[in-house]
Order: sequence, then structure tokens, then C-alpha cells
Amino acid sequence: MAANWKMNLSLDEARDLLNGIKSAKIDFNKVEVLVAPPFTTLQLANELLAGTDILIAGQNMHWGSKGAFTGEISPLMLKEAGCSHVILGHSERRALFFETSETVNQKADAAIEAGLIPIVCIGETLKEREEKKTFDVIRTQLNKSLKTSCKLGNLPQSVILAYEPVWAIGTGKTATPEVAQEVHLFIRRWLIENFDHNTGETIRILYGGSVKPDNIKELMLQPDIDGALIGGASLKTDSFLSITKF
Ligand code: 13P
Repeated sequence: MAANWKMNLSLDEARDLLNGIKSAKIDFNKVEVLVAPPFTTLQLANELLAGTDILIAGQNMHWGSKGAFTGEISPLMLKEAGCSHVILGHSERRALFFETSETVNQKADAAIEAGLIPIVCIGETLKEREEKKTFDVIRTQLNKSLKTSCKLGNLPQSVILAYEPVWAIGTGKTATPEVAQEVHLFIRRWLIENFDHNTGETIRILYGGSVKPDNIKELMLQPDIDGALIGGASLKTDSFLSITKF
């Protein structure tokens, strides 16, 4: 269960939320829990979560290791700040900051090289869904965002994919479990086609888009939904914890 805080929470609010999650009884044999705070909160998260099983992710990064890239953060910087994971290609980055699948591929390569686990996001817009282009869009995003791994025929099995239909993000409109499952199954078949059966079975595919305590259970009942990437509902201790106990 991955909490994407986006650009939210002051340090004080973050401290309260992290302490709340930390003091809860979570069965880490059943669920992996990850928080992705803004960059300026990573250090606090690293300090407060030290010695726990709660993982930390960056919300974005640059593919280079260092240099004149004003405003950017390198893979090593994320690692030094305590991150084991990094979210890449979130639809907000693609739509608002002109990120492309080509740069997502560069970032995924750099993350893997640096020993960070990428959480690669894909998803169609409402217009694309209405025009019945969902599967074409998802296939193209996967082909381009994981181009290097496809060429090599090898995808590290720790890599995580997140299907986030853009029309379901922050709108309160969750994809029905059946609609989400249909796309997750498509993604799994794409993995099997491009890599091998084992990779297809092993890679975790998260669903994101208006996940809440009252819809997580039915989403998690779907055979190809392995977890969730949660925005709004991850900002409150009670709702996030209740999601982790699906
Ligand atoms: P919401 O849960 O607020 O819809 O956000 C989903 C998301 O974008 C997670 O990355």
C-alpha cells in the first residue's frame, strides 16, 4: 500500500501522520507499506521511520547522477534521504510538467542502476477511454516507459507498475473493480509477452485513483490487483491505516 502524498502536508502535519502510522499495528507479513512524501519531508520520514518496516519513496527524480539541473534530485540523493523506491511518470507529471514516456524510461534505467525500485505509472485519460483507446494507450506507455528493459528482455522483478486511470485520480470516481481488473490483466499479459511468464506473475501491479477505505477490499479481491497507490486518502492516519488493513 503506497501513500503518494503529492504536494501536501507541513512538517508538523507530516510528523503527526508518520507517528500515527508508525505506532499502529500493521502485519508486515501481509502488507508492505510505503510513504512518498515531498522531497523536503524525506529526511524527517527517514528519521521517524528508522527501524520500522515502512518504506520510503521519492515522488520523482532526474535520470542524471549530478550536474547543472536546477530544481532536480538525483537517484543517489533519494537513496541518501532514505528512499528505497521512486514513483516515476505519474500522470500529474506527464500532464502538468510535460514528462514523456521516453524520459520515464531514462529515469527507470537510472533508478534500477542506482538500486532504487521504480514504481512506473501508466493510465489513460477519460477522452482516451471514451474513444476506446485504453489498451492502445497502455501498451504504448508500457513499450516506451520500459523500452530499455524490453530491448534487454529483462525486467528486474522488484519493479512495480501502477495503473492509474487519469479520470479516477482525485475525482472520487474509482474504476470499478472489474474495469481495473481488465486493465491489470492486460498489463500482466503484456509482461508475459515481453518478458516471460515468471516476470508476468511476479511483478506487482498497483491500482491508483480514488482508493478509499470503503473500496479497497473489493479492489484487492481482483486477481491481478496487487496493491494500491493512494493519494487523498493517504493523508489522514485513520483512512490510510484502514486501507492497509483491507
Ligand atoms: P487519489 O487517491 O487522490 O485519487 O490519487 C491517486 C493518485 O494519483 C496516487 O498516485
